[in-house]
Amino acid sequence: MNYPFWDIDIGYGIIMAAIAVIHVFVSHFAIGGGLYLVIAETIARKNNDQLKLQFLEKLSKFFVLVSVVFGALTGVGIWFIIGLLNPAATEVLIHNYVWAWAAEWTFFVIEIIAALLYFYGWKTLSAKNHIIIGWIYFVSAWMSLFIINGIVTYMLTPGDWVVTGNFWDGYFNPTFWSSLWLRTGICIMLGGVYALFVASRYKADDFKKRIVRFNSLWAIGGLAIMIPTMLWYVSAIPKEIVDAALEANLTPIKAMNATYIYAAFLAFVLVVFGFLIPKKYNIVVGVVAMVLALGWFGEYEWMRESIRKPYVITNYMYANGIDVANAEKYQEEGLLESIEFQTADKPADLFRRACRSCHTFDGYKPLKPAFDGTDETFIAQIIMGTHVIRANMPPFVGTEEEAQMVASHIYKQIDKRHISEIYNLDGIALGKKVYDLRCGKCHIFGGFNDKSETLLGSTEEDLGDILDMAGDFADEMPEFTGDEKERKALIDYIMSLNEKEKN
Ligand code: HEC
Ligand code: HEC
Repeated sequence: MNYPFWDIDIGYGIIMAAIAVIHVFVSHFAIGGGLYLVIAETIARKNNDQLKLQFLEKLSKFFVLVSVVFGALTGVGIWFIIGLLNPAATEVLIHNYVWAWAAEWTFFVIEIIAALLYFYGWKTLSAKNHIIIGWIYFVSAWMSLFIINGIVTYMLTPGDWVVTGNFWDGYFNPTFWSSLWLRTGICIMLGGVYALFVASRYKADDFKKRIVRFNSLWAIGGLAIMIPTMLWYVSAIPKEIVDAALEANLTPIKAMNATYIYAAFLAFVLVVFGFLIPKKYNIVVGVVAMVLALGWFGEYEWMRESIRKPYVITNYMYANGIDVANAEKYQEEGLLESIEFQTADKPADLFRRACRSCHTFDGYKPLKPAFDGTDETFIAQIIMGTHVIRANMPPFVGTEEEAQMVASHIYKQIDKRHISEIYNLDGIALGKKVYDLRCGKCHIFGGFNDKSETLLGSTEEDLGDILDMAGDFADEMPEFTGDEKERKALIDYIMSLNEKEKN
């Protein structure tokens, strides 16, 4: 199945990230804030703490506005965007989880109604009823997290579902529970950080000291839940997925490390400004804490999304919307057949289907600089070998002829001057550039699929032989199609590394 396409120059990943990060931030905060409000209200009423009740009423106003309006708008926005960016995956999600979505929307409606009643009920409802409404709000909000959590985790770790096709196997998948409790911790942390932000604007008196401390403890409690549940979550991701990322795709690993840094800074701000010197928790600190929390969350979601590559649904559908089950068929019979909405430009259609979900030509993850100065044969061979390039890309699932068509489409648009001319390079510097363009996509010295052992131990003659035989090493490895000048520069470059190695 496929759909009309949507061509824009911005990377799909960036559009998704922009909307999704706002949405997950607001929606988790809405859940944690709900719990914060009812518990803080219960305590305040018990102590007849009027100042705190006033604070909570004020907080709930902002809270309802942000969570209901922003949450609902960006939630619809996410559907709109994923439908445009990856219609095939969106279809799978709706098709398999239609009852889950129906339940989710039901809870969402209850959540919205309860939120409005809670906000408008401060003066009109009895204390008891008001707190009951607050609980209804929190529980229904958390239930929608419970439901969506099953679907989001299924995309990364569908578990036995890939074999059985059983709804529950996909739903209660290997990362379901760890992710649920991790996200619950995130909700609590965000609720606290948000309440802190509101309190940060208060003047530095005794009430501020009290409320900032309370809010900080709340947020620290959330962080404390996040630490073990994050470790649990990471350990629940199957080893193959983590290993594949460690080998070829450092994006999720970097994102994961960034989450630790954000968490450490956030903990510092909460303990020092929130707990030790609460009167100093001013608006600047409030903003910094929000930014750190948002940064943490952005990196976490980035990790989760990028570790899934080359799939959008692990082992079931590639990130470009092509189902794994049909890959072999397309490779034999052709991918073009499967494209329902074709234009007069077949090569461009193939490019859209196979590559466009992740690359633009000269904007986001651009292909132009990766190919400027190379040739059509090389490009076609790279296309046939995308799955062995560093980055965990899906394989090209079309025929060789179709790879050639995509190559012609790319070749038409690149800079056809000599590499030395485009980059104004000569000698060893030129050789390094040739290496980066023609070899470095698949072999990084000291890194991914390193060939230093063979290359740095070779004489000039051996290197010449290696280049002559390049096409024979593996189906996916391109032959060397550069000219004499490039060839000489490349050999000189490798020999220069060779010298360095010896010294
Ligand atoms: C699932 C997303 C995805 C798809 C689909 C995809 N790529 Fe990639 N590709 C990537 C990522 C991510 C990188 C790494 C980019 C980076 O490191 O900046 C990459 C890197 C590359 C590189 C190396 C770039 C360089 O500078 O060395 C080439 C060439 C490439 N892709 C070509 C293609 C072609 C051709 C297609 C279609 C047949 C394709 N890709 C499909 C995600 C994808
Ligand atoms: C599209 C990816 C790709 C590109 C580009 C590429 N290679 Fe390879 N190369 C491979 C694969 C796949 C193998 C065989 C399996 C393996 O060892 O990973 C291989 C094997 C080799 C080997 C031999 C085996 C060994 O283990 O010693 C050498 C040497 C080598 N490549 C050097 C190069 C050089 C030099 C270039 C640039 C001119 C280059 N490769 C470009 C993918 C590539």
